[in-house]
Amino acid sequence: MMLSLFLSSESTSHRMPPFVRKLFIALVLLVVYPALSRVSAAQAAPPMPSLLLGSAWYPEQWPESHWDADLALMEAAHLHVVRVGEFAWSRMEPAEGQYDLDWLGRAIRLAEKHHLAVVLGTPTDAPPAWLTSKYPDTLRVDENGRLAQHGGRRQFNYASPRYRLFCAQISDHLARRFGRDPDVIGWQIGNEYTDESFDPATRAQFQQWLQRRYGTLDALNEHWSTAYWSQTYDRWDEIPLVATGGNPGLLLEHRHFVTDTWRSFQRVQIDAIRKWADPRQFITTNIGGLAWSDHFDHYEITRDLDMASWDDYVGQGQLNPMRNGALHDFARGWKRAAFWVMETQPGSVNWAPISTTLNRGETRVMAWQAIGHGANAVLYWQWRSALNGQEQYHGTLVGPDGEPMPIYDEVRQTGGDFERAASALRGTQPVAQVAILESYDSRWAIDFQPHNHNYDELQVLLDWYRPIRQKGFTVDIMNASASIDGYKLVVAPALNVLSPELAAHLKAYVEQGGHLVLGPRSGMKDAYNSLNPERQPGPLVPALGGRVEQYYALDDAVPVSGILGSGTATIWAEQLSTQASDASVLLHYGKSNGWLDHQPAMMTRPLGKGTITYLGAILDANLMQTLTAWMIDGSRVQPEFGPLPEDVEVCRRVGAGRTIYILLNHGALPAGITLSAPMKDLLVDQPPQTTLTLASQGVAVLEEQAQPADR
Ligand code: GAL
Repeated sequence: MMLSLFLSSESTSHRMPPFVRKLFIALVLLVVYPALSRVSAAQAAPPMPSLLLGSAWYPEQWPESHWDADLALMEAAHLHVVRVGEFAWSRMEPAEGQYDLDWLGRAIRLAEKHHLAVVLGTPTDAPPAWLTSKYPDTLRVDENGRLAQHGGRRQFNYASPRYRLFCAQISDHLARRFGRDPDVIGWQIGNEYTDESFDPATRAQFQQWLQRRYGTLDALNEHWSTAYWSQTYDRWDEIPLVATGGNPGLLLEHRHFVTDTWRSFQRVQIDAIRKWADPRQFITTNIGGLAWSDHFDHYEITRDLDMASWDDYVGQGQLNPMRNGALHDFARGWKRAAFWVMETQPGSVNWAPISTTLNRGETRVMAWQAIGHGANAVLYWQWRSALNGQEQYHGTLVGPDGEPMPIYDEVRQTGGDFERAASALRGTQPVAQVAILESYDSRWAIDFQPHNHNYDELQVLLDWYRPIRQKGFTVDIMNASASIDGYKLVVAPALNVLSPELAAHLKAYVEQGGHLVLGPRSGMKDAYNSLNPERQPGPLVPALGGRVEQYYALDDAVPVSGILGSGTATIWAEQLSTQASDASVLLHYGKSNGWLDHQPAMMTRPLGKGTITYLGAILDANLMQTLTAWMIDGSRVQPEFGPLPEDVEVCRRVGAGRTIYILLNHGALPAGITLSAPMKDLLVDQPPQTTLTLASQGVAVLEEQAQPADR
């Protein structure tokens, strides 16, 4: 800002002879500006609160005269961050090469006045009309060959070199201008990477990508078993670009290509921003809700980012605490670090079949749940709806009149909570003894061929997650290839794709004392989505001392019983056999289709200092609870908190010498809680207590009191 003031000032630079002016500019750039910006950064950027509540704000949609009132209301609600800019390309570059960022600069200064930090979005999710009409090769082509058009968003082709050039240019301009702005704390690249392109140029890129990956067509033909249906390729340019149907090897590689292509799309903008941006400014992107935005590998995409962030929407109905908690744990697992909820609904959305509103208190509980699972910021989408445009019905914090909506007070309360608890939570994070492993390759491989349309990957994962969380344990959900040293218990619900390297990694964990439990469908495929020639669990058969003889998709429930109790299996059942003499069977099937009758459904075996266990069926909820108790006991996972009423969730954050428990009552009735020791609720002015009553949708943030030193 100061540099542009210097350079535009009539009384200084413009009246100078050209060479003096150049000298003057060089002096300003080299000496004065860095010094001044250091001073202003030091002055204007007090330490950020460690918990931030905020909102998406679109100043470009409103007359400038409204901005101050909007920001004043944000400040009054204890918001400390606004995200701006991510769809504003037509205002930032109204015509090719003509940039106008002054309005954005003024919006940022006004935000500063109201003590709001700014996250700046690059606008590359919504190209302007002049760009796509002049350069139609920047438009996306869908899988059916239809060319996208202007009028929505995401109409761009993510692989187009020309589009990427425009993205780099706008990012460069933004970063030159705001890369050292003390109030800009971070950057968001694009928004919710979603739609791929299937145009001929992208197809050629896919073919070249395959060539680099496989080296020879012989290798590709072998890994994809293209002798099947005469699919053998003689030239790289014969290979189709498809995302559905077709060869499973090709489908999996297309997802890898999509991942790499979004990653390089993102890289272009990261490089443009990093050239100018102060290292204190983080770079992230806003990842869409996991139930649908899974065409690329989030672990890979977030590798190049400083921080992960995602969108947390309920849509229709009420918060499903288990599902939502698991999705937060997923997001924390991408970088195995604190993350942000870059968007969440202030009450309601506009896109659900029935866009119901969260109950009073539920929006606050959701914000605290995010913090409990490791987020350090929660931003609402959005502050105030544009008068026109497709999202007129979406929930907002203020109405089109600029006055608070009913939800505003609840958000203000949450903002007040965050301010009270921020210093105690600084430097803390969830710390888990239990890990759930997943991999995108496995998810995709099963999605391509579910074999039973009732098989829902997220549900399967939640079947394992729920009973562990119900016992109050923190769970890390993470990439199967990540380091698992130190976890007492590791559960892998469906590692369908299991390479020899991954098998060796898991086996080493067990041999060193770990307890590994594999779920059905594990170890069926190799890294090319080709069947492992061994039966399941493929390369882990020798370690398990047993294998899967046959798998069965179920339409009816099958009885199951054994030392873990009795119940049923649904959707999927595998007939196991034991080979090693020290392997033991924990569950058998009852009378069923004849093939499964009285056959092993679950087995376990000691290996090295640990154990390896395989469950071949999807069990009912009761059996999953007994299984969980067995896993927790056997792996000596230590309790994290005392017993709690059924609807109360506990989240633990540990660090900086402190332990904080966040208690959330998701139930409709008040819940009485007895604590094992006095604890202080940071949200209320009361001394430490040993009992508390949590109202429906109530939240308590309890700090464990330091124990008196032993005498
Ligand atoms: C998100 C998107 C926002 C807005 C919001 C509405 O997925 O990032 O731009 O459209 O949905 O719920």
